[in-house]
Amino acid sequence: MEILKNYDLTKLNTFGIHAKALYFIELKNELELQELFKIPEFKKNEKLFLGGGSNILFIKDFYGIVVSNRLKGIEVLKETEDFVLIKSMGGEWWNDLVNFSVDRGYWGIENLSLVPGTVGATPVQNIGAYGVEIKDVLENVEAYEINTGEKKVFSNKECKFGYRDSVFKGELKGQYFISAVVVKLYKKESKNIRYKTLQEYLEKNNIEVTGPKTISDAVTEIRKSKLPDPKILGNAGSFFKNVYVDQEKFERLKKEFPDVPSFNEDNLIKIPSGWLIENCGWKGKRLGKVGIHERQALVLVNYGGATGEEVKNLAFQVIDSVYQKFGLKLVPEVNFI
Ligand code: EPU
Repeated sequence: MEILKNYDLTKLNTFGIHAKALYFIELKNELELQELFKIPEFKKNEKLFLGGGSNILFIKDFYGIVVSNRLKGIEVLKETEDFVLIKSMGGEWWNDLVNFSVDRGYWGIENLSLVPGTVGATPVQNIGAYGVEIKDVLENVEAYEINTGEKKVFSNKECKFGYRDSVFKGELKGQYFISAVVVKLYKKESKNIRYKTLQEYLEKNNIEVTGPKTISDAVTEIRKSKLPDPKILGNAGSFFKNVYVDQEKFERLKKEFPDVPSFNEDNLIKIPSGWLIENCGWKGKRLGKVGIHERQALVLVNYGGATGEEVKNLAFQVIDSVYQKFGLKLVPEVNFI
């Protein structure tokens, strides 16, 4: 296992921000992982585990050790008449796991097609799209405690999932390295097409769902039409979380802004942050090397050569103007490093 110094991270974050790591290691198997815990550079320094780098914003260089998860392998652990348990190592690309499942006709993660990043990162922020979250299919998470090197299996419940949230972002932040994820998928039809945009897309194009692949293809098309490809335009998907309010707050808002879109979810009302940002006039706006995407106001973009600080400044301006106009506080989904 090679320890590299002053490593350039530009290609390892989808925002394409130029930042360096004091030390950098690429982990290719579990044996290397066990070795890692004994290395002095690892023990002594601040640590950052990197998956696909699709949910981070580097504000400055990282004066510690960056560990890139490249643990590979996808296998079927168990199969019954109704379901399969699939284990994927954390360094696999999430979309490769989706394709593996969809190609075999298994239902459960087709709505999460094309979500960028690695499998190991998906439970951390409980990825979600088009009406499905990883928590809906996750059986367990295999992880190593960073201080002791001990392996632990977290059940779905122990992950304490919430909206873009889990125990790995909360009380256990920075304490575990996720090595693998096990998902439970269904062999019999169990489609979820309740998400409005997805439903409308299928209806408009007269598409009949014949398998998980139909949904996967539709979601892929919708995402491609709205979300910028990070290979072309640096970005980290939704920069902010959506806002959840109670009925009372919603009534007040609706009085002042009758057009405000809303979605009922678990006794709360979701207000799309994209709408709030767009209605503050930000959509498509550019400030130097950074801007707000023209087709999805929730996405901040790097037009090339931007610093993390510039993106952060824009984000704070957006937070400020949404607060001034609507009295609602946007919370970033992206992690600032
Ligand atoms: N909207 C606007 N203007 C915009 C964007 C959105 O008015 O510029 C409003 C519209 O009312 C639209 C609604 O927002 O109907 C929802 O928009 P969309 O379906 O694009 O979803 P989102 O709420 O903006 C969330 C996730 C995405 C996920 C999509 C699809 C969060 C923070 N984001 O976005 O996840 O792909 O739903 O399910 O919850 C990500 O986390 O990085 C991400 C891309």
